[in-house]
Amino acid sequence: MSGARPAARVRSRRELAAARRRRAHSCWDHLYAAPLWPMHGANLGTLLRTCDAVGACLAVPRLPWVPEAVARGNTLRRRSCVHWTGDQLDWLRARREQGARVVAVELADEAVRLAELPPARRPTVVVLGHERTGVPPEALELVDEVVEIPMVGTGHSLNVAVAGSLVLYKLAGLV
Ligand SMILES: C[S@@+](CC[C@H](N)C(=O)[O-])C[C@H]1O[C@@H](n2cnc3c(N)ncnc32)[C@H](O)[C@@H]1O
Repeated sequence: MSGARPAARVRSRRELAAARRRRAHSCWDHLYAAPLWPMHGANLGTLLRTCDAVGACLAVPRLPWVPEAVARGNTLRRRSCVHWTGDQLDWLRARREQGARVVAVELADEAVRLAELPPARRPTVVVLGHERTGVPPEALELVDEVVEIPMVGTGHSLNVAVAGSLVLYKLAGLV
């Protein structure tokens, strides 16, 4: 096909590896993805990949099935940064007391749209809801703001790992 722009060339795995960090980022208390009421292990695996890509940590409660789901979901060769929260609300309160900004990702009145969310300038927790019931009301009382990803389709909501990934990329300043 003729055109002004040369066809894109897909980078090789070797080139990609050379452009990446040699080891996982160390935790510097910067950005957390917090699916605090998880239901599906596959979503934790997807979020772990995004966390690695943007330099965030994953924060999850140690429900009986979660450690195994996290281990299985970590398809990267290196260890990921995972924090075990214990009681979800206590963990959120502790992050706030330490000065973190807490952002809930939810379809809610008063939510800001994703495009209006500025990059994180201080430690930030991204709270994600349960796959069926969303972020519980008692947790929404603890957040600084709520962000919503606009939708024009027929579905009620996005997959939680997709929603979390979009917000993490925005907060990391990578899009
Ligand atoms: C599948 S949704 C929850 C179900 C939702 N309450 C419903 O009625 O369909 C799971 C989580 O994904 C996130 N989420 C999904 N779509 C979203 C959107 N468009 N904007 C913000 N958050 C979203 C929220 O954290 C939500 O709690």
